[in-house]
Amino acid sequence: MSERVSFGSRMGAVFAAAGSAVGLGNVWRFPYETGNHGGAAFILVYLGCVFIFGLPIMIAEFTIGRRSKACTGGAYSMLAPGTPWRWVGYLGVLTGFLILGYYSVVSGWTLEYIWQALTGGFSGKTSGDYVAMFQDFSQHPFRPLVWLLAILLITHFVVVKGVKDGIEKSSKIMMPLLFVLVILLAVCSVSLPGAEKGLEFLLKPDFSKLTPDVFLGAMGQAFFSLSLGMGCLSTYASYFGSKTNLGKTAMGVGLIDTFVAVLSGLIIFPAAFSVGIQPDAGPSLIFITLPNVFQQAFAGIPVLAYVCSVAFYVLLALAAITSTISLHEVSTAFLHEKFHFTRSRAAVLVTSGCMLVGIVSSLALGEWSAFKICGMNIFDALDFLTAKIMLPVGGMFAAVFVGWYLDKKIVRGEVTNYGLLKAPYYPIYVCILRFVAPIGILLIFVNELGLLG
Ligand code: TRP
Repeated sequence: MSERVSFGSRMGAVFAAAGSAVGLGNVWRFPYETGNHGGAAFILVYLGCVFIFGLPIMIAEFTIGRRSKACTGGAYSMLAPGTPWRWVGYLGVLTGFLILGYYSVVSGWTLEYIWQALTGGFSGKTSGDYVAMFQDFSQHPFRPLVWLLAILLITHFVVVKGVKDGIEKSSKIMMPLLFVLVILLAVCSVSLPGAEKGLEFLLKPDFSKLTPDVFLGAMGQAFFSLSLGMGCLSTYASYFGSKTNLGKTAMGVGLIDTFVAVLSGLIIFPAAFSVGIQPDAGPSLIFITLPNVFQQAFAGIPVLAYVCSVAFYVLLALAAITSTISLHEVSTAFLHEKFHFTRSRAAVLVTSGCMLVGIVSSLALGEWSAFKICGMNIFDALDFLTAKIMLPVGGMFAAVFVGWYLDKKIVRGEVTNYGLLKAPYYPIYVCILRFVAPIGILLIFVNELGLLG
């Protein structure tokens, strides 16, 4: 067991985990959820969810991964041999595989939009043209598939390179680049004339908007954005060294993830308000509204419109790729460790399988849109099944497993590095895992299924 690969440095571990967490969830989903739920009040509840529920569950997943030194699919069998807990691990692998299938489709769109931005495809269009452009593209039978393949191949290549030379190195390059881009774009957006209204929307909470729906929506967003609920971060934690401080790492990842989400809001809302576009367009916000916003906001300075559009979609693609890598790694490590395939053989199987899921999800938006499961096309059904059912179930099991099942000596030992660190938050942490998190997640779950009305 001692020859298990690990990240080369503690910073590398933080970058890789943050790379997983920061993704389309931050730059695409967070702004449209915020827009739909009325702005600042949603953000406050979201922050509460990240720090109260998200971080303890992240530490729990880190504990499972580092203690077992196994990928998610094997971790539960290792820590609770001969019990049905192993199914929680398998469920995580399946969840990750399915998420990767449709997440790669949207990630592929970011490459098309980089291409469009580079070739000047956004200039001289009317609002209607942006809608048509997005629909024509996303419903096209082949074009999105080419980009899907490209995303999966890039992901494949990095994963095959391995934990240290692939995942860690790529995160160390991509994450700082991503920070620079988010900060530059946010500064640009905030300095536009009329940006104050967007800032007010983001920063001045209107508490009358705080319905139970907002509360539960924010919690769901926190789990998705932090990559919790399927053992993605526990697989990464199995590559952590014995000196990594789990609490501090979770705090770092939580702060970075939140920082990028809030800055994405600072890019999108001031720019949208500045040109008089409503922020509640939903999932198409990034692909339809934003090209339009850049063109209008910098109408007098076409070079800036061009540069900002290119930079924004490059940012989105970088964020997406560090996340697809983490999702891919979960299944690849599982096949490698459980069935003893070489890493590259395992990765080929995962990439091919995801390509199939991706093709089906992509066609579901165009050619096959008439085919419905419970009133949803396959793409939406996959998103619903994974994000709204499988992740909450997985997150709840992780909390219960560490809070109730695992030996307390291990639970305390992992957060204190077996006596080397003080972890004054320990009693609160355990209380959250035992009571607050399972009950909270149960509430999201019930709400998402519509049982609370
Ligand atoms: N957190 C990533 C994002 O915000 C997506 C992601 C990566 C994810 N791994 C995950 C979501 C595991 C849920 C579970 O885009």
